[in-house]
Amino acid sequence: MSSIKGRSNLIYGGYEKAPNRAFLKAMGLNDNDISKPLVGIAIAWDEAGPCNIHLLGLSSVAKEGVREAGATPRVFTAPVVIDGIAMGSEGMKYSLVSREVIADTIELVTNAHGYDGFVAFGGCDKTGPGMMMAMARLNIPSIYMYGGSALPGVFRGKPITVQDVYEAVGSYSAGKLTAEDLRIMEDNAIPGPGTCAGLYTANTMGIISEALGVALPGSASPPAVDSARVRYAKETSKAIGKLVENGIKPRDIMTFEAFENAISMLMATGGSTNAVLHLLAIAKEANVKLTLDDFDRISKRTPTIAYLKPEGEYAMYDLHRVGGAPLILKKLLEAGLLNGDVLTVTGKTMERNLKEFTLPQISHAHIVRDVKEPFLPSGGIRILRGNLAEEGSVMKVSASKVKRHKGPAKVFNSEEEAFRAVLDRKIKEGDVVVIRYEGPKGGPGMREMLAVTSAIVGQGLGEKVALITDGRFSGATRGIMVGHVAPEAIVGGTIALLKDGDIIEIDGESGLLQVELEKKEIEERRSTWKAPDPRYRRGLLAQYASLVSSSAKGAVLQADE
Ligand code: FES
Repeated sequence: MSSIKGRSNLIYGGYEKAPNRAFLKAMGLNDNDISKPLVGIAIAWDEAGPCNIHLLGLSSVAKEGVREAGATPRVFTAPVVIDGIAMGSEGMKYSLVSREVIADTIELVTNAHGYDGFVAFGGCDKTGPGMMMAMARLNIPSIYMYGGSALPGVFRGKPITVQDVYEAVGSYSAGKLTAEDLRIMEDNAIPGPGTCAGLYTANTMGIISEALGVALPGSASPPAVDSARVRYAKETSKAIGKLVENGIKPRDIMTFEAFENAISMLMATGGSTNAVLHLLAIAKEANVKLTLDDFDRISKRTPTIAYLKPEGEYAMYDLHRVGGAPLILKKLLEAGLLNGDVLTVTGKTMERNLKEFTLPQISHAHIVRDVKEPFLPSGGIRILRGNLAEEGSVMKVSASKVKRHKGPAKVFNSEEEAFRAVLDRKIKEGDVVVIRYEGPKGGPGMREMLAVTSAIVGQGLGEKVALITDGRFSGATRGIMVGHVAPEAIVGGTIALLKDGDIIEIDGESGLLQVELEKKEIEERRSTWKAPDPRYRRGLLAQYASLVSSSAKGAVLQADE
């Protein structure tokens, strides 16, 4: 591989770079090591939570893999914000921000030191998207591996995930659950390392990494504690060798057709609404023109064929046992719903990968069905537009049996206000809870409303109350929920003009989100509306708020070209 060593040669080649080599030799590298391509091993890691805690342990096997590929590994870390912990607090404002910080960290370390490529290991919600954004942005040979989910926990003989604990808080506040049961759930919901066990955002982005072609086939679904993780870490790291050697770069893989495949996977599985934001953001970095309309188009043609939590009964662990992401991709390919001829990180096409992947011969119709006998006739996510969301909004139609709702608005200017109102039982059947000034710019950081939505579900109002917000939702959210409302409140979107009692109509079938107000009334309200002062004037959140784009464009910090 030494012949293709390029970027690192500029930093470490030639007599004038002797001081640079001296720094590497101070860490035990020799001339032979330095003569090889230098490959970064980017690991999203810290001790904030269990989602990525095992990944640092995989770095030693990843280094072995890179060495076997004929390159020299250099490990570095990127920060992790644990969404599940930050949820419902000011801390959550940093969650989506962390996606950009992770992408920036990889750019920073990799470009500053001239690495010839990198292998990226992610887990918790924003880490995978941030890493895939970095792959697209830097466009140097690189590959991704998802770290895997936690095993499900157990409560009174039944499998549970952390989603059950969030909802138990609502049940407890409504007097439907004892303190002892809440405690037992808290003790047992997450039995070890790995991401949240249902098909929430982290697992959604994990299986999407395979559909996008940037991860090895089958690498997304093994649980974090499965020894397959070690094998995939080695194979993933070894695969970087061929990518560097053959000059295969992420933008060769991340084409429009590959994004279509990623969206097909999202829709077929009823995955997290956050994937809409993340795919728009990754596509932006890859210079691929992807819009909300592409999501709606693919949603209409793609049946939901997986039955995974939060809507279904099964966890990622169950999907792994029946074949993981390749099982779903094969079904989509056979039905003509997948572009089979796209290039992937194996250097082969998607179709070829799937042909070579051996599925376990095990019955799976309870978790994954054929396209002809789906769980739902179309995809799990719809894009809604109307006078309340001219740029668009996102509804997870698979998260609720009820797809249409009309009712009076109860308006709140922050997540905390809304959460308190739910706990104080001020929300009644038929209401539409409006949570605004929580968008990418207004929050800032577009918090997830899991605490509120879980409390609504926990109080038995799950499909009787709707919620709309310019913020977003956790992948674990259930109910009639519309998020990503754009334009957001802080820039004067119609959501900023709503008053208590305004009648709001949500139609997940026709794709409508509107308030029953005459245009004239909306314009009158707009003429007297004044944007509130920014919540932050310095620091990361202030910087982010000043740069971030609309959620309809992925909430990215990159200017339009
Ligand atoms: Fe990390 Fe759920 S909190 S995946």
